[in-house]
Amino acid sequence: MKAIVVTDQSAGLAGMTLTERPKPSAAINDVIVEVHASGFVPTELEWPSTWTDRAGRDKTPSIPGHELAGVVASLGYGTTGLSVGQRVFGLTDWHRDGTLAEYVAVEARNLAPLPGDVDFTVGASLPISGLTAWQGLFQHGRLQSGQTVLAHGAAGAVGTMVTQLAREAGAYVIGTGRAADREKALGLGANEFVDLESDELKDVGAVDLVFDVIGGDVQERSAALIKAGGTLVSVVGPVEARPAQGLAVDFVVEADRAGLTEIVQRVRDGRLRTTIGEVVSLDEALGALNPTGRRHGKTVIRVRP
Ligand SMILES: NC(=O)c1ccc[n+]([C@@H]2O[C@H](COP(=O)([O-])OP(=O)(O)OC[C@H]3O[C@@H](n4cnc5c(N)ncnc54)[C@H](OP(=O)(O)O)[C@@H]3O)[C@@H](O)[C@H]2O)c1
Repeated sequence: MKAIVVTDQSAGLAGMTLTERPKPSAAINDVIVEVHASGFVPTELEWPSTWTDRAGRDKTPSIPGHELAGVVASLGYGTTGLSVGQRVFGLTDWHRDGTLAEYVAVEARNLAPLPGDVDFTVGASLPISGLTAWQGLFQHGRLQSGQTVLAHGAAGAVGTMVTQLAREAGAYVIGTGRAADREKALGLGANEFVDLESDELKDVGAVDLVFDVIGGDVQERSAALIKAGGTLVSVVGPVEARPAQGLAVDFVVEADRAGLTEIVQRVRDGRLRTTIGEVVSLDEALGALNPTGRRHGKTVIRVRP
């Protein structure tokens, strides 16, 4: 099968090549998915799981990409709940070969049915950003209606989902980002927007929940805004800042069939919008995944037309 692989950690995105790899075989509880569309997070090549297996052994050549939408091609021994020919989407295991390929082996529990009226391109854009926002807001952040959320990077992949889901849940949302992100964040439902390059974060006042996708100094300044009993949720590595009277949580998104089902239902009925930028074939993917300018929306690899 055709796949994009990485072999050299120091080469970054420029080190990705399109090559032939053996088609995966299904282990116990696995599904082999014929990939129709695949998502990729630009920071993936910095993650240790791209380079090693769970025991820390080199796993190169490694296939990146952990979001997919496609069709079940075959089932491993003992696999239940999904059937051959079914449309699915989901988040694959970080340590296994990923989805920038024609086929991928995925544990069935990592997948959810993709309704027939949701395009594969849309399905592949949802798992990481949607589940990260969902888990950060509702599981780790314990968001309640009426609370105030500071949604950093509100025009980015995770931030757009955080903004929309928090608003739907009845929160007051203050989005942040660069000046050029203002209209997008407000258009997705943010009640206010803070330009991190020219506005003062401290003028925001007290908030119940900070959703951090930036880290560093922005995380530090945001922690100081958290009310007693509030939460700083971060997805950019071990959290360093501590709210004086609140909680700090860092987490890595987990596969979750029920969460995927909640998210895709919202997309179907128009409550949640995903921002897709370029859509390219596997043959064209290398250039698109390594752009020279700023990305506008998520790049989706359309593995099958
Ligand atoms: N732990 C997890 O499970 C998990 C899951 C998903 C993502 N992540 C991580 O979360 C981060 C965000 O992911 P994403 O996919 O949402 O990325 P993204 O689409 O690039 O969104 C990030 C947004 O934040 C903005 N931004 C970043 N730094 C900024 C700054 N200093 N001032 C103003 N705006 C700033 C970006 O603007 P520019 O594009 O102009 O920089 C962009 O709009 C990444 O580091 C990713 O690895 C972690």
